[in-house]
Amino acid sequence: MDLSTTYMGIPIKNPIIAGSSGLTGSVEKVKTLESCGAGAVVLKSIFQEEIMYEYADFMKTAKEQHGAPQYFDYDGRKNPIEYYDYVIREKNLQKYITLIEECKKTVSIPVMASINCFFHSADWLSFATHLESAGADALELNMFFPPTDFKHTREAKEALYFEIVDKITQAVSIPVALKISPYFTDLGPMIQRLSNTDIKGLVLFNRFFSPDFDIHTMEVKPSFVFSTPSDLAMSLRWIAVMAEKVACDLAASTGVHDGTAVIKQLLAGADAVQVVSSLYKNGPEYLKEMLGDLEKWMAKKKFRRLSNFKGKMSQDKSTDPAIYERAQFMRYFGGKKNVTL
Ligand SMILES: Cc1cc2nc3c(=O)[nH]c(=O)nc-3n(C[C@H](O)[C@H](O)[C@H](O)COP(=O)(O)O)c2cc1C
Repeated sequence: MDLSTTYMGIPIKNPIIAGSSGLTGSVEKVKTLESCGAGAVVLKSIFQEEIMYEYADFMKTAKEQHGAPQYFDYDGRKNPIEYYDYVIREKNLQKYITLIEECKKTVSIPVMASINCFFHSADWLSFATHLESAGADALELNMFFPPTDFKHTREAKEALYFEIVDKITQAVSIPVALKISPYFTDLGPMIQRLSNTDIKGLVLFNRFFSPDFDIHTMEVKPSFVFSTPSDLAMSLRWIAVMAEKVACDLAASTGVHDGTAVIKQLLAGADAVQVVSSLYKNGPEYLKEMLGDLEKWMAKKKFRRLSNFKGKMSQDKSTDPAIYERAQFMRYFGGKKNVTL
């Protein structure tokens, strides 16, 4: 059975990628993921947001630890605050560069770096070029400008995606993937427009931290950090709908918890799948079971390679494409074969 494929032009031995998370935050963990069968890894993101928080902490003791602020002179002006900002940024960046370099020395599967920035677009570019120089095989841009931002218009926020993508794809020569949320006004056309840029892959979709309420203490607490198998539905629908309408590769993310979910996403048209929550819950060893289930299913269906069935159930190949667009639970479905209400 041949599980090998390519994702963004990069050969991978199988389509299961360990997605960006704490599970890919150290060389040891990446090594374990490789030994358990991961086709590739996306390293934990370098978070610009985290750097900003660290900056606040750092400033509390900056003077004692680092002496009087030195002036950081980059444009003829002297600004001590920016000097500290620069120190933290460089420290975090250096840690991340070392992670990439060590992973590249230790594993033979592709190592993709991930950048999470939520504003300050200038940093994206500098991070991207540094991570490419460190040896990353590809970059994943974890891009999200919250729809809770009431200050900027939809047009301005959407334009930012294209602006950053254009700058980064021009600055680096490794493949760039964009990991997006489903929170766009006009999701299908937006995915298609993004795919027509110079990115090589789109990851559908990221899953985010959500607040929950504790009704006893009346405090806000994090809701479930991990996805559940039922969360697959959203990305499955959109991979199937977009598979034949995009000009780049598609990786499915969110709710891929077992071999069956991997098969479904490949049938929908995904070029690769990313797995996170399931590996947190079941451990990296579970990758072997997922790959085994994929192989068993392929053997049963007499598919020798992924291309024999990839996209076979995409919307464009379907004899009933409307079912992929159905939104309401109508009585109509009661009469449909294999649909139980
Ligand atoms: C604990 C945890 C940490 C994560 N860290 C990152 C991260 O650093 N960068 C990123 O792009 N996504 C991150 N994610 C999101 C995952 O990569 C993934 O998109 C999401 O969990 C949905 O996939 P899943 O259903 O397989 O968990 C994280 C998810 C979890 C649960």
